[in-house]
Amino acid sequence: MTRPPSPESALAQASLLQAMVAIAPKSVRVGCRVIQDGDEAHLLPEEARSILARQPAMRRASGAARWIAHGLLADVGVNDFAILRAPSGTPVWPDGITGSLAHDDEMAVAAVAPVADIGSLGIDVEPAQPLPDDILALVATRSDRTDAADRRLAGRVLFCAKEAVYKAVYPLDREILGYEDIEVDLNAGRAMTKGGRKVSLAYCVAPRVVVLAFVDGGRFRSRADGGNG
Ligand SMILES: CC(C)(COP(=O)(O)OP(=O)(O)OC[C@H]1O[C@@H](n2cnc3c(N)ncnc32)[C@H](O)[C@@H]1OP(=O)(O)O)[C@@H](O)C(=O)NCCC(=O)NCCS
Repeated sequence: MTRPPSPESALAQASLLQAMVAIAPKSVRVGCRVIQDGDEAHLLPEEARSILARQPAMRRASGAARWIAHGLLADVGVNDFAILRAPSGTPVWPDGITGSLAHDDEMAVAAVAPVADIGSLGIDVEPAQPLPDDILALVATRSDRTDAADRRLAGRVLFCAKEAVYKAVYPLDREILGYEDIEVDLNAGRAMTKGGRKVSLAYCVAPRVVVLAFVDGGRFRSRADGGNG
C-alpha cells in the first residue's frame, strides 16, 4: 500500500515539478514523483513482466516513473498503456508519442511529447551535488562547454546531459555511445553525437538536476549532415 509522501517529500516534488515545467518546451509534458515504498505496485502486469529480472529497489523506481508516465499519457487521451521495457532498455511508447523515464535513489521523472513536434526525448535526474572528480574525469572531454552552468554543479549537469542525450538518441540510431562520443555545449543548450545527431538541451539544478534532451521537429531532421537517419 502506498503511503502519502511526507510534507518534505511533497514540497521537494512540487518544487521540482515547477522547475521542470519552467524548462520544458511547450509540447513536452513532464512529471516527477518521490519514490515510495510500494511504488512497484504501479507497474501494470505486462510492465512488471518486462522488467522481472530486476532488483526490488529498481522495480520500485520503475513503478514510480511509469506512474508519472501513465498520468502524462492519460492527459493526451492514452489510457492504460503498458510502457514495456525493451531488451535494449528503451521504454516502448504508443504510436505518435515519444518519451523518456529516469530515476535516482529518491526521485523519478518522466517526459512525453508528440513525435510531430519532438523527434525523440531523453531525460535524466540527479541529486544537486557536485560530481566526484574521478567520475568527472570519465565524463568530460575537451570539447564540452559548461562555463554557463553553476560552477559547483557544472560536472553533474554535464553527466546528466550526456545520459539524457543518450536516451534521446539511442531509439533513433540504435548505437551505444560512451561519454566521449557526446559533445555538450551547455552555454548554447546543444549537444552533438559522434554520428552527427544534433540534440537540444534544457536543464534545471534545483531542487535536483534534471536535463531534458530533445531532437527537434521530427525524427530525421537533426543529423548534422542533413541525412535521413
Ligand atoms: C540508458 C542508461 C544511460 C540509463 O542510465 P541509468 O543511470 O541506468 O538509469 P536512469 O534512471 O537514468 O534511467 C533509467 C531509464 O532509462 C531508460 N532507458 C534504458 N535504456 C535506454 C536506452 N537504451 N535508450 C533510451 N532509454 C533507455 C529506461 O526507461 C529506464 O527506466 P526503467 O528501467 O524504469 O525502464 C544506461 O542504462 C545505459 O544503457 N548505459 C549504456 C551506455 C552508457 O552508459 N554510455 C555512457 C553515457 S552516454
